Amino acid sequence: MVKVNISGALGFLTEDEIKAIDTTKPLSDLKTLYENGWTTVPSSFNEELSSKIKNIAKKIQNESEVLVILGIGGSYLGARAAIEYIISPNYNMLPKGTPDILFAGNNVSGEYLEQVIELIGDRDFSVNVVSKSGSTIETAISLRFFKEMLEKKYGSDGLKDRLYVTSDIGSPLIKLAEAEGYAYLEMPPEVGGRYSVLTVVGLLPCAVAGINIDELMAGAKEEFETGIDDACLYAAARQVLYRKGKKIEMLACFEPAFKYTGEWWKQLFGESEGKEGIGIFPAYADYSADLHSLGQLIQEGERTLYETFVTFNTPRVNPKVPGGPLHKDKISAITGFDMHRINSSASDAVKKAHIDGGVPVLELCLPSLSASSFGALAYFFMRSCAISALISGVNPFGQPGVEAYKKNLFAILGL
Ligand code: PA5
Repeated sequence: MVKVNISGALGFLTEDEIKAIDTTKPLSDLKTLYENGWTTVPSSFNEELSSKIKNIAKKIQNESEVLVILGIGGSYLGARAAIEYIISPNYNMLPKGTPDILFAGNNVSGEYLEQVIELIGDRDFSVNVVSKSGSTIETAISLRFFKEMLEKKYGSDGLKDRLYVTSDIGSPLIKLAEAEGYAYLEMPPEVGGRYSVLTVVGLLPCAVAGINIDELMAGAKEEFETGIDDACLYAAARQVLYRKGKKIEMLACFEPAFKYTGEWWKQLFGESEGKEGIGIFPAYADYSADLHSLGQLIQEGERTLYETFVTFNTPRVNPKVPGGPLHKDKISAITGFDMHRINSSASDAVKKAHIDGGVPVLELCLPSLSASSFGALAYFFMRSCAISALISGVNPFGQPGVEAYKKNLFAILGL
């Protein structure tokens, strides 16, 4: 489903250079070293798991006007990305029959916490605490606030009924759930945090928001079965560009609904590749908005970056530019043009300008913004990220560097 187009990078690399990158070993390492892990998640998704997730989601929808997701990194970014991509970045503001979804536990700001609590107001709410390790400090602190709120509002039985735990088997959180009687969903133990969007971690919030998770997973499965060549092409092209001094990848999309997918992608690639003194720096640009902020630097700054455009062939809606006497100016010539045509023209214009300015452009083409294309793209990115990291010689599945700040924070707090 995801098609990679490297034509915009051919002035900067050759097809032979891409072919010279060995993707066979990374692929076989993924199969032999990590089989049964996240790589096969789309094919292990079945009716039983789907019904289990949907039943919990129904209960939350029936009982609550708000679902608060507590989690950080891979424990919330995928869910947020999916909801914004598939439904809308303004999901909470839309008239709808499903709960608002709020996120907390992704920082240690008291001000942010208070604002989330204020947003819940008097409304009925449930909480889904998500942490693979079950011991992440940001999530653990926020859980204290929300457990207290649930107990105060609904009593200890209500707390048990409205707190849902998602974590690894045997983690401190699952032990807490067992001891205190909360419902819990187990994460597949072999799937790492930033590779977990297609598991219960991402799927439960999606189902609560009314997203068709079967369609989402069908897209992932299709990509799993058919997308290997494109994933290898993207991974190899990235590594060729990196070796030629292009140290920064600017993922860019002309759909604001994609912004949080960009945030999720930053974590996925940043944590998987940035180690042992190497790694492409992942940045995200929201076009055309960021053409008026980052555009100058991209066009004329240091030539150390390349771009990856994400494009959609068919828009979900396609309004036409209104005309009439109210709108008499230079732009009047495009009265009646549909917005998809204008958006695509903007993408073509930017692509040409940036290539002319010395920025290679890769392109990832998708049919439309939908549940199935999200599933496909998520799987495509995870697979190509793992291949790319293995090509560069690092383990895509560890994040030892994240421990450094935690160690200092624990020491400063006397923990
Ligand atoms: O990819 C990872 O493993 C991490 O970025 C985690 O997602 C993040 O640190 C949160 O960890 P946890 O889910 O254990 O709370």
